[in-house]
Amino acid sequence: MAVLWLMLLLMPASCLLQTTQDPNSPIKNVRMDPEHKRLTWDLNGNVDQISCIEESRLPVQAKNNRYCSFELMSPCKVTNYTVTVTDPPFSTWILFPEPDGTPGAAAENLSCRVHDVDFLTCDWTVGRAAPQDVQYQLYVEDGTTLERRKCLHYKTDDRGTHVGCRFDDISRLSKYPHGLRFTVGGTSGAARVPCTDVFRYLSAIEKLTPPNITVTCNKTHSFMEWKMLSYFNHRFNYELQIQKSTEAAATETLQVKEHTSFTLLNTGAYTVRIRVREVFDELLSEWSAPQRFECDQEEDMHTRSLRTSLLAALGVLLALLLALLLCRRYRLSASSVPAARRSAPWVPQAAPAEPPRSTRACRALGSAIATPAAEVRVSGPSGLAAALQTPGDAGFGAPERPLPLGSR
Ligand SMILES: *[C@@H]1O[C@H](CO)[C@@H](O)[C@H](O)[C@H]1NC(C)=O
Ligand SMILES: *[C@@H]1O[C@H](CO)[C@@H](O)[C@H](O)[C@H]1NC(C)=O
Ligand SMILES: *[C@@H]1O[C@H](CO)[C@@H](O)[C@H](O)[C@H]1NC(C)=O
Ligand SMILES: *[C@@H]1O[C@H](CO)[C@@H](O)[C@H](O)[C@H]1NC(C)=O
Repeated sequence: MAVLWLMLLLMPASCLLQTTQDPNSPIKNVRMDPEHKRLTWDLNGNVDQISCIEESRLPVQAKNNRYCSFELMSPCKVTNYTVTVTDPPFSTWILFPEPDGTPGAAAENLSCRVHDVDFLTCDWTVGRAAPQDVQYQLYVEDGTTLERRKCLHYKTDDRGTHVGCRFDDISRLSKYPHGLRFTVGGTSGAARVPCTDVFRYLSAIEKLTPPNITVTCNKTHSFMEWKMLSYFNHRFNYELQIQKSTEAAATETLQVKEHTSFTLLNTGAYTVRIRVREVFDELLSEWSAPQRFECDQEEDMHTRSLRTSLLAALGVLLALLLALLLCRRYRLSASSVPAARRSAPWVPQAAPAEPPRSTRACRALGSAIATPAAEVRVSGPSGLAAALQTPGDAGFGAPERPLPLGSR
């Protein structure tokens, strides 16, 4: 008997496959149950210590000698599963899934990433041996609930073949622990197209988005804080790069460990950018766009309110001057119009020369501002320009400064 087993073990693989049909083999009918992700078989007599090997991975012990679980088994990639019995010594293997369709027609290099907090995008390339009319579809399956979702927002190449797809609002896409199987299936009228799949944890494929910094500050302190957004990662360290003047040498980089705020002393104006690194996987974001903050706030607030009131005063003055000018011109022309009217035969002679409304308004205005009008003595456009320029030179010649952003 032992010799027979030894012979079986030494036989070529193709013969070993046949031995499962042998009425004396200790396990028979080895098969994959894709729904439960179990490699299973029928026992034949007393057997002990069965283990399974997926391709060249480490062996896993069978449960009750009845099956091996392969939670992450691929439904697309042809995989060699070997079952080994220690007593009596025996070994066999199967391929799952069985090779089917045109090799090389399947989508290649499938890669997926979470980005900009809410989005999940996958890309792939058209298989090198794919028929002209091939079309690909992506769906994801939740590793825990096995719920499936089709992808809807496809990216196409110039032939119209799908080569990428995007899910919006991924917060609803998967349950804890966010393991997803991504599968790209293919169809064609000319050939059978195998599928392509990858299993990924969303936390591991996230391209982190650097947060926005908001600042509250006064003359001595600048308090920066930010809110990190991610559905799948939760512990972060940050790097702040702060530049207090325009020289690159004045840039300093600070590490902030698992806090979402930082206080800077003696600041004035500065530019800051931030990037984030996840604690466990060390996923690193890009640097954020630089944000500039002006923290010399008290002086600036003062300048700003002064500027505002000066502008308001100037506005009122201008309005009055304009009104006066208009009134003057009106009065000049109005003095000739009634004369023409009086000579017109269809105007009743007895009608009192009722002054138009604008004239009355001008008179009211004139009396209201009689004094300033007399003092200002604006004679023409050049005078007006002079009136406009004088306060400007005194108070508004300073170059524009950035507004303090953190004062809200
Ligand atoms: C599957 O793996 C076994 C060894 O574990 C090997 O003997 C056999 O040739 C493999 N089959 C294929 C088709 O690669
Ligand atoms: C897929 O990626 C591999 C390695 O990154 C590369 O050699 C291969 O050419 C790629 N295939 C296609 C179709 O782009
Ligand atoms: C940061 O702010 C910009 C503009 O206000 C906004 O478009 C962006 O979505 C924000 N980013 C984050 C991560 O909140
Ligand atoms: C600025 O703010 C910090 C913290 O909010 C405070 O401790 C400090 O006294 C303030 N300085 C001035 C000059 O108001």
